[in-house]
Amino acid sequence: MKILVTGGIGYIGSHTVVELQARGYEVVIVDDLSNSTIEVLDNIARISGKKPLFEQFDLTDAERTRLFFKKYRDINGIIHFAASKAVGESVELPLKYYRNNLVSLINILQGMLDHEIRNIVFSSSCTVYGQPDKLPVKEDAPVRQAWSPYGNTKRISEEIITDTSKVTGVQSILLRYFNPIGAHETAIIGELPLGVPNSLMPYITQTAIGLRPFLRVWGNDYNTPDGTAIRDYLHVTDLALAHVIAFERMLNGKMKQKLEVFNLGTGNGFSVMQVIESFERTTGVKLDCRIMDRRPGDIEQVWADTELANKELGWKAGKSLDEMTASAWKWEKALAEKRK
Ligand code: UD1
Repeated sequence: MKILVTGGIGYIGSHTVVELQARGYEVVIVDDLSNSTIEVLDNIARISGKKPLFEQFDLTDAERTRLFFKKYRDINGIIHFAASKAVGESVELPLKYYRNNLVSLINILQGMLDHEIRNIVFSSSCTVYGQPDKLPVKEDAPVRQAWSPYGNTKRISEEIITDTSKVTGVQSILLRYFNPIGAHETAIIGELPLGVPNSLMPYITQTAIGLRPFLRVWGNDYNTPDGTAIRDYLHVTDLALAHVIAFERMLNGKMKQKLEVFNLGTGNGFSVMQVIESFERTTGVKLDCRIMDRRPGDIEQVWADTELANKELGWKAGKSLDEMTASAWKWEKALAEKRK
């Protein structure tokens, strides 16, 4: 079985490639390295013992994408991660986001139609729910107008896939991730934010290692028990495994409909302060935290109803918050060793 993993050099992509290889799949990665480094390819091979096939190009290039599909005629399905994902940047550069995230998806779907590739797993986000009225949020909760162009590309991508699935042989699983954190247990691959991180976990570990002077807590006046915003953090390896399970569900003809949607989270919400406390408890490192104003566009609280993923996929994100923060720290320390 040969699987195309777009964005397979990136954070979630690389962890998924490792899990696919462990189950005997042959992986072809397409990545333009716009937000990742080629070293990760060797690091994947260090873990799995096998170097994935790799093609470096930009999937917004229709002709290059067409040639790729012509070359790899034996692909059984696609896990599509490749996308730009910085929320703030997407507000500044909306066209970059619409072009990168939508044009690439259209080119991939065209390749699927041209070569009768039936299966696609798509990397979506809980951002499509906005601030849900009811928590935990279920898959049938209304999709809201996105605040950022990034979020909007996820919503529109879901619609493009849905419309395509309706009238073609393409079957799709849309995976709506909550907040993935942590790294592979070997600390050989993990999150590699280029420049200043936006996300909480890498900002915490970079502050703890001394790369950032202090941690900014974006708002403590939310309507939550400690006033800081609540998210559903899940371990990246648990998330990676969900992709393999979803893919096998497609291959084995177990889907109930041609298009399915699953929330991927633990079902537990933790506040920013709880994440910080977990980090300090598991690592013994104290963080200098400063309370700031709310970050524009942040929602107050969201966590997943995981019943559908648990029952239908037979998947559960099992790692605790303490395991996740410890894992992120192990990775940051491994990065510091490499810098020496
Ligand atoms: C956001 C997107 C999500 C996207 C992800 C990709 C929304 C609503 N969510 O997640 O769809 O997939 O980015 O990167 O658009 N925080 C701090 N200090 C920091 C960093 C973060 O206090 O230095 C807080 C944030 O205010 C938030 C929480 O930590 O409350 C998590 O933030 P972050 O890790 O950036 O993820 P989201 O904003 O939830």
